[in-house]
Amino acid sequence: MALSVKHLLGIKELQTEDIHRIFRTADNFKQVLQRQIKKVPTLRDTTIANVFFENSTRTRISFELAERRLSADVVNFSASGSSVSKGETLIDTVNNILAMKVDMVVMRHSASGAPWFLANHIDASIINAGDGINEHPTQALLDAFSIRERLGDVKGKRIAIIGDIMHSRVALSNIYCLSKLGAEIMVAGPPTLIPKHIEGMGVKVEYDVKKALMWCDAANVLRIQLERQHKPLFSTLREYGLYYGINKHMLDALEREIVIMHPGPINRGVELSSDAADSKQSIILDQVENGVAIRMAVLYLLSGKSSGELPE
Ligand code: CP
Repeated sequence: MALSVKHLLGIKELQTEDIHRIFRTADNFKQVLQRQIKKVPTLRDTTIANVFFENSTRTRISFELAERRLSADVVNFSASGSSVSKGETLIDTVNNILAMKVDMVVMRHSASGAPWFLANHIDASIINAGDGINEHPTQALLDAFSIRERLGDVKGKRIAIIGDIMHSRVALSNIYCLSKLGAEIMVAGPPTLIPKHIEGMGVKVEYDVKKALMWCDAANVLRIQLERQHKPLFSTLREYGLYYGINKHMLDALEREIVIMHPGPINRGVELSSDAADSKQSIILDQVENGVAIRMAVLYLLSGKSSGELPE
């Protein structure tokens, strides 16, 4: 088997060698994406459904592009405008899509654990494109891949994850992924947005963002996930920006240049100023670019068409 798992539900279930295999395969696909003809026949005759029960810009377009670059047939489903509004269940929805001879399902859902639930009820491979506050595995893979590309390696690097750790699936998947790859990890932000006992996952905790910036080689800055906060956990966005936001002036005051990352969407002027987000220290658009190669690698390795040989 190309990976030790049938589905990509979370980074937690992956072995470290799986991550390295995904990176090596993505290196290869990244070269394909530099060519004039950016398409390979690898997944011809494979049909993939992108099933999105929650909004997305980057992940959805990135998966669709990855599928099309691999010559797969693609169908897109979004909950709005579907029969979900008429009371159809998740399993019925997906089983009806699979009855049309779909081989793989990419799913985003607002309920944590939804892809695990589905994996127990259907035969097709499932790729989690983000489930509630739980995991966003392909985001963590593309983040770590982008760190490896910019800093040469992930092992031994100091990575600060800054912002709303409590409600972020990107934070949790990053912690699993970076830990498996041997990075040192710090989480930073307001105490109300950092889960209690998170030190048990082997991460440092810092409430002073300037100290986190001084410590790290790369800062992965997260937005405030207001849609998942049912009670206010800080006073106002303006005050959050004043105390926990990162700007270019703060980066220039550091003794050395650090790398700035963000999974998107950015709330400019809140967690990150435009001059920091658009600076040469920022690899935010490299992350987006790398997302296509990473997703091509994941789809290929889970498709059952991977012989262990990398596609030319
Ligand atoms: N990073 C990310 O998941 O962005 P989208 O919500 O736009 O897919």
